[in-house]
Formats: sequence, C-alpha cells, structure tokens
Amino acid sequence: MSVALHGTQSSLVIECGSEGAPLWRWWGPRLPESGLPLHTVGDARYVPPSSLEQELPASLLPSFGVGGFGQAALLAHRDGQQFAHHFDSCSLRQQAGALHFRLHDSVAALRVDLSLGLGADDVLRINTRLVNEGSSPLSLQWLASATLPLPARARCVRSAHGQWSNEFRLHDEALGPSTWLRENQRGRNGHDGFPGALVLAEGATAHSGTVWGAQLAWSGNSRQCITPREDGGWLWQMGEWLAPGEVILAAGAAFDAPELVATCSSQGSNGVMRAFHAAARAAVVWPGGRMAPRPVHLNTWEAVYFDHDEAALRELADAAAAVGVERFVLDDGWFHGRRDDARALGDWWPDASKYPHGLAPLADHVRALGMQFGLWVEPEMVSPDSELYRAHPDWALQLPGRPLLTGRHQLVLDLARPEVADYLFGRLDGLLGSLPIAYLKWDMNRDLTTAGRHDGRAAYHGQVRALYALLARLRERHPAVEIESCASGGARIDLGILPFVQRFWTSDNNDARSRVAIQRGALQFMPPELLGAHIGAERSHTTGRSQALAFRAAVALPLHLGVEADVRKLADADRAALARWITLYKHLRGRLHCAPLWLGEAGDGVHWQAHGDAASAVLFIYRVEPTAQRFSPALTMPWVAPARLYRLRRLCGAAQGPIPGWGRSALHDALDSEAGALVPGAWLREVGFELPRMTGESALVLEVGVMDRDEPGCKL
Ligand code: GLA
Repeated sequence: MSVALHGTQSSLVIECGSEGAPLWRWWGPRLPESGLPLHTVGDARYVPPSSLEQELPASLLPSFGVGGFGQAALLAHRDGQQFAHHFDSCSLRQQAGALHFRLHDSVAALRVDLSLGLGADDVLRINTRLVNEGSSPLSLQWLASATLPLPARARCVRSAHGQWSNEFRLHDEALGPSTWLRENQRGRNGHDGFPGALVLAEGATAHSGTVWGAQLAWSGNSRQCITPREDGGWLWQMGEWLAPGEVILAAGAAFDAPELVATCSSQGSNGVMRAFHAAARAAVVWPGGRMAPRPVHLNTWEAVYFDHDEAALRELADAAAAVGVERFVLDDGWFHGRRDDARALGDWWPDASKYPHGLAPLADHVRALGMQFGLWVEPEMVSPDSELYRAHPDWALQLPGRPLLTGRHQLVLDLARPEVADYLFGRLDGLLGSLPIAYLKWDMNRDLTTAGRHDGRAAYHGQVRALYALLARLRERHPAVEIESCASGGARIDLGILPFVQRFWTSDNNDARSRVAIQRGALQFMPPELLGAHIGAERSHTTGRSQALAFRAAVALPLHLGVEADVRKLADADRAALARWITLYKHLRGRLHCAPLWLGEAGDGVHWQAHGDAASAVLFIYRVEPTAQRFSPALTMPWVAPARLYRLRRLCGAAQGPIPGWGRSALHDALDSEAGALVPGAWLREVGFELPRMTGESALVLEVGVMDRDEPGCKL
C-alpha cells in the first residue's frame, strides 16, 4: 500500500508491505490527495539485462548484501558474521502527520524503528533507532539518519565550506555519475563541516524552482553523501560518522542516529531557508518560554583580549552602557592563571591577581549600569599547564602510546567520565549560583584527535552526548541563563546543540565585508536572531581592512547585534553614531527577528536581504564591490504584492548618515522625504527599484511598506 504525508508545499509518498524496507515513491513538490499512483513499484518494474531478478528498488533503508548494491543505510556485523541484512517484517503505525515503521531482520536479530513527521511548515523530521535483539554484541559501522530520494532533475548540491574566520562559504557542485561525499571527523562540526546541504533542481533560483534541503541535528562527526540511482535519480544520506569500533551494541542495547531535518520548497533556496528557520525556531528553548528582545552585547575580547584590568573594564562597561549596550560579556582572560592562551583552561575560578575580590564587584557594577552580565567559559578543555591537569592528567582524552596532540595548546576532557562532568558542573554551578550571571559564552576551540577514552575506545560519539547532558543539567539548574555556542567562531552551529543554547557565534571575523558572505551562508541554515554579529573596530583585527561605521553597523544590524571594540577609545562623533545605530537596532529588532527572510542579488556586486512580508519589510542593501557599471542595477523585490502601491523610505536617515556615493536623483532624494518614493508592487517585482550609485563597502537600510488604499497619494 502507499501512504503519504503532505505539507503546504511538499509531499512524500511511501510504499510499504509486511516485508522488506518501505520504498520511496516521492519526496518533492506537493501532490494533490488524488495524485497518488494506483500502481505499485513492482507493477512498473522490469528486469533489465544482466541484472538480478530481485534487485532492490530505492528504499528508506537500503541494506547491503541481500540484493542491494547502492549506498547502504545500515552496516553492521556480529564479530564478522551477519554482515548482510534483509528486513523480513515491516509494520506501520500512522498518526496525524507522522509515520512510524518497525522493521525486523530476524536472521541478524536486529530491529530498526524509523519515524517520519511532516508538518504544515514543510519541515520533515526523520528519526532512526537500531536495536540489537540478538544475544551477542552487534558492531555498528554506519546507520544513516535518513535516506532521501531526489529525482533526475536534481542538478547541483550546495554546501558550506570554509576555515576559521571564513565560515559558511556556500559552494555549488554539479551532481554527476559519481558519489558526492562530505565527511567530518573533527569531533565538532568545524569551520568546514557543517552537517547540511541544499540540492537544486534544474533552473532553481533563490526565489523559485524546486530546492531540497537537509541538515543533521548533531554537533560531532558526520557523513553526507548523494549517490546516483540507476534510474537517473539520486539517494541522499546523512548520518553520524562512526570511528572503528566506536559503537558496539550489547544485547538489547539501542543506538539513536541524530535526527535529520529536511524540507522541499517550490520557492527556491529562500523557501528552504524559511523552513529551516521554522525548524530552528521550534528547537530553541527560551528562558521563560518565549524570546525576549535580543539584547545588544558588548564583548570584551577584541577590546582587551587577555589584558583584564578591573578599573579599565569598569570604564569599558560605563562606555558600553552609555551607547545603549544591554549585556556585557566578559570574555576569555578572567580565570585563575589565564594570562594568554597557553595555560589555565580547567581552573574556573577568578584570577586573584586580576580580580582580588572576585568577579562580583565588576558584575555588580555592570548590573548597576542596567546591563546583564555574561561570562566566557570553555568547559570541555584543559590546558596541560593548569591545576586541573596537574591533579588529573588522566581526565584528558588520549591514546596510550600516541603523542598528546594539542590545539591552541589545549587538550579535551573526557566528558563521558562522570567525575569530569561532575567537576565541570560543580564549577559552573558555583559560578552561576554565586554571581549574577545571565549569560554564558560557551566556547570550544579545538578539534578532537587521539580521542580515546580510558578503556581505549573512541570517544567522539559519547563526547557529544555527554556535552548535551552537561548542558541539559546546567539549564535545568539555571533555566534563566542563556548560553551561546561558540567554537573558534562558527565551528559548532547546528540543530543538535540548539535545544541547549540561544545564540551562535557566527565567526571570529568582524570585518563587515567578509561578514556579508559568511552571514548569508549561515542564514541559509539558521535564523537571524540566533546568529551573533558584532560591530568591530574600524580596522578589522582578523583581516586588517578598514570600513566605515555605517557599513559595519548595517551589516551587523539584522542579526543578534553586539559591539566588539573598545568603546572608550572612540572619537565622540563615532560614539554618538554608534549609539544611533544601536537605537535603530532596538527600534527594528522586533521586525528583523522571527520574520520571514528573503536573500537576493541585484547584480553588479549588490546583495540584499529583506525581513518582513508583503505588507512591510526592512530591506538591507549591501554594495560590497565598487560598481562596474555607469548606472546601478534595479533591485527586484519578489516578496511584494503586485496589486499594491509601495512607499520606500530610508530608515532613520540620521543614523545611517548621507547616502554613500554620488549620482543621486530625485527618486533617491525622495527616500529621505516624508512622502517617500512611491512605486507600484508589480513594477518592484518585475522591473525593480533603480538603486543610487553607492560606493563599495556601503549599505542602505530601507523600509518597504504597502500604502493604505485610502491614504492620500495612493492611486491604486
Ligand atoms: C575563540 C572565540 C573568540 C574568543 C576567543 C577567546 O576564538 O571564537 O570569540 O572568545 O576564543 O579565547
């Protein structure tokens, strides 16, 4: 029989019987209820020359060794035996919007429970669990979180690449006759291993056409592959990459693959983005049950680095409060012995030479200024030069006979050891219980390698599960505290850690020009209110380039805004301008965060993003490169309603300053007038709004609002 789940834009159809893995019939644009096939897979299938009579069609759980030749979803054995799998029974339980399959392989004595849920938001969630029903240990090599079908018109895969300070650079690769494969074995996502991708059909754009997307809710090793099927289509798999021998299931034990979150949209890559944003928004657990307006941060890192002087930090807090900062985050450098990055991780108590009376005086000062106090920690790590390591050298992950490899001079603690988790919980609980800390910036600054537990087994999987458990324990004890996931910038941004955190640090690169691309890549997978963006120093510390405040501020504004610069040292005029931008952010954040988002390109080096809907949107226009044309291109606005008249105005021109560049016209002058520039929606959608001639590295922030039909001047 065929069963189907329908979202708003997408459907999936599965054929299942009482034996064998359920077969994929469709996952793609929405089908009408009456559109399901009357024939079965078997009805349409013939035996091609030189083929098995029983070769398996594409299924939700392709297996190896009994008629399957493609990428298997399950690879497991019992001491070299039972390496081939076939599901001899299959049962289905249906619920509204969900299908639960239970598959048994009675010969190999194992069971797989596979659940699929598809909501009206087109978010497809797939969960897979393997249970060892035999009496001997079952060695697991690979269990895909999901196997998804893609039709022959899928053309290219778009995934995130990068390195430190240059994360989320999206890259397109054509699908061909060979397997597309990305594996991450760094123990965290890393800067180059985000566990997710998009697949675009022929002709798909940012705004139209069929695009599929999937991401894994997991913060460790991962594997994603797209393999060609023999009918011109593809199978897309994602799951946790397992180290040899890492998962050996005892009799009766189960292994849960990380949840896979997928979507299919007929509205291009932006449609996939909006469904991903819905999925991420549903995963966040906000203190008090709902998101408070995202407070403006001041992060001390690039202002003072390790040079913590209590008096100077008080002055920095004063200056921050004066420009409108709402949360003061004391970054690395505050704890015992931490004078540089070569020592002290693990010793989570205030450094007595820098803070003779502890952190309370500074925290109280910050709070008296009306700001929240936040603190940086990196709990998973230990420095060889630390009290903790000297007392417990065996707490670090290591392999006997192998060198202790360091990254940023540090080692990784074995979080799965109860005494390690208890130590960290005790230290963090002590800090949170004794100080008015509203926020933890939880950092993680190295990859895992030689990651062996004390029994010599690989630690990668257990480390991630133990991290989640530690975070859950802390959140349970301190539910009002928000946590940021940071990993040398954006090396741990994913849906797996999201239920425990409320912010991601997107990148250590605060250069606004770099940030345009990094943020657009990250926004493809995560919503703006969860991504931190800071206005850095005029001269970027990571790239050495200098940019005007207006550009730096306009690039950071739509995300969760912060400042990462020594505000004390700003010229008065710059400080006043910064305060105006912060005011503008506070004015706009309710509209920027939690709204639908559109990303687009206008050509000639112009990128734009619109937050809102057809009634009213905030439009950010970034010109990164100087123009190569005499006249700037027109920016088409696919989100507006064709039958309405629109008023375009620059938002708070006073904060933005004059429109950068030259070559203004009457239309552009109108952007700063009360009446605004009036343009019909159909014109904006098809022809576009002619942009002023802006200089390279400049921005415009516009309001695009529909005019009331009875408003004076509305002629539609
Ligand atoms: C990492 C983070 C930075 C900062 C430093 C402190 O690199 O990404 O934001 O916190 O650590 O050591």
